Amino acid sequence: MCIILVRVIRSVVRHPIHFQTMSTRQSSDIVKFKESLKAAKEIVILSGAGISAESGIPTFRGAGGYWRKYQASSLATPEAFRSSPSLVWEFYHYRREVAAQAQPNAGHIAIAKFEMKYGVEKKVTVITQNVDGLHERAGTKNLIELHGNLFKTRCTKCKEVLANTDIPICEALANRGAPDANIVGSDIPIKSLPHCKKENCSGLLRPHIIWFGESLEPAILEKAGEAMESCDVCLVVGTSSVVYPAAMFAPQAAQRGAIVAEFNIEPTPATPDFHYYFEGPCGKTLPVALSD
Ligand SMILES: NC(=O)c1ccc[n+]([C@@H]2O[C@H](COP(=O)([O-])OP(=O)(O)OC[C@H]3O[C@@H](n4cnc5c(N)ncnc54)[C@H](O)[C@@H]3O)[C@@H](O)[C@H]2O)c1
Ligand SMILES: [Zn+2]
Repeated sequence: MCIILVRVIRSVVRHPIHFQTMSTRQSSDIVKFKESLKAAKEIVILSGAGISAESGIPTFRGAGGYWRKYQASSLATPEAFRSSPSLVWEFYHYRREVAAQAQPNAGHIAIAKFEMKYGVEKKVTVITQNVDGLHERAGTKNLIELHGNLFKTRCTKCKEVLANTDIPICEALANRGAPDANIVGSDIPIKSLPHCKKENCSGLLRPHIIWFGESLEPAILEKAGEAMESCDVCLVVGTSSVVYPAAMFAPQAAQRGAIVAEFNIEPTPATPDFHYYFEGPCGKTLPVALSD
């Protein structure tokens, strides 16, 4: 197991995260937070599905968390792909279409502008759990995508990862993937799903996504762990802070003394661990927090 992950897990065991009522030391003082941001040398912005909600991409929590009759998170698993690659590819074809049509919103743009302005004098790292590619399209450069990308494929046989923005990704997926709850099953033969084009391989391709129950790539986890361990300010944006290991990143940073500010439309289980909590859609709160 990756050294950083082991270190993080050990540390969580040593300092269990207590889910208490909101700390009385917690603040929503934006002026004070901006002073800390100005003084910081290393800043991490940790984002989750909530930052893309205002671009029209549903999160996995609440009403948007369903596709057809399925809970979206139940299709984002290796078991679902093993039992029906056709169904899972239809689901991902739909998600690729939605993400391709979406535009980065004011939150993504505020982050990219902040990096453009301060990225030389400060180390600014964006760590995202999102797979929609919107941070990159907004112009973010120093980006760590923890959970992969909807527009990359991975061969189940030779493991090659390739960028692919074709929509549909194969002929058989044209006009498929409608989210209508009345549609039952999926019957695309495996041979018609996307396959590896490498000579002597022809393995079935899957979306290059870290599914629930799968481990993060060690090199990516290590890079993210390093940024988290050395940052002096961390912004936690639009994440429910329940999907591990990302969920332990910010509470860990707060415990070792980094200033952590959460931006969400509602409190999360990790809210009491943070110094600042800014409530509201991050398309509104981030441009204020990250402007001069
Ligand atoms: N856009 C995407 O790429 C996308 C979409 C859905 C799920 N996912 C995946 O699902 C997993 C879910 O974990 P997660 O924590 O990222 O998301 P999540 O769905 O668990 O939580 C979303 C969080 O965003 C908050 N939120 C919603 N709208 C917001 C807004 N306008 N401004 C600020 N906050 C807002 C919600 O209150 C919630 O806490 C991740 O692993 C991610 O890879 C990704
Ligand atoms: Zn292959």
